[in-house]
Amino acid sequence: MEILIRDTPEAGAQVAASVVNKIINSKENPVLGLATGGTPLRLYKELIRMNQAGELSLRNCTTFNLDEYGGLPPEDKRSYNYYMMSNLFSHVDISRDNVHLPDGNAQDLREACRKYEKQIKDVGGIDLQVLGIGANGHIGFNEPTGSFASRTWVKILSEQTIQDNSIYFDKLEEVPRHVVTMGIATIMESRHCLLLANGAKKADAIRKMIEGPISASCPASILQMHPRVTVVLDEESAYLLTLKDHYKWIEKNKLDWQRY
Ligand code: PGA
Repeated sequence: MEILIRDTPEAGAQVAASVVNKIINSKENPVLGLATGGTPLRLYKELIRMNQAGELSLRNCTTFNLDEYGGLPPEDKRSYNYYMMSNLFSHVDISRDNVHLPDGNAQDLREACRKYEKQIKDVGGIDLQVLGIGANGHIGFNEPTGSFASRTWVKILSEQTIQDNSIYFDKLEEVPRHVVTMGIATIMESRHCLLLANGAKKADAIRKMIEGPISASCPASILQMHPRVTVVLDEESAYLLTLKDHYKWIEKNKLDWQRY
């Protein structure tokens, strides 16, 4: 894993935007996997700024989001469809025909999940998957002890995640129990993963992900088996890492072409 530690979340968002920019410029039709939640907001702000300044274009990009709540229509302000429109898509030059989110509101959820997997396959897979991490180590909405072989499917949120995400809802009871999420195997097939984390609340999950054993108890730990992962952390989320100085040493001594 490539571990990049920055003093602040803002500095982390800058380096994350450089990773995204590099992928976009490396291919004619890049495919991006995107995430929601509080963490990627600074990255999306930076991508919007770069797009509006003419430094980056999303015109040829196709996107697939990680997950969506069950039972919320796309126009619901708490849906991830709405989040993506208001925090990224409506401000940049991406074609609406090229953006995809799991359909958590489909009549036939099982068919919608199969279709999503096929759509990803049909465009040749995901070049760069942006990820956040839950305080319990989840990636996407793949909660602890779920299968590492999982595909896009209907999942039930853990009580901790419901609690964590209730800040985006008026009442805890309004947080949907069912979600549709890319599976761990779907995420592992992306060619490059970019995981972002900020704040002391994520420090324990980050330590388990990077330095713990690979275990379904911390779903993100499977990324140790992925050939290309970049982890961008602020100092607070990195504070429990035993080998923090080592990761900084590695970064300092990288060759120029290995830097972002
Ligand atoms: P957050 O969520 O960015 O809102 O902390 C991350 C996640 O649950 O994956």
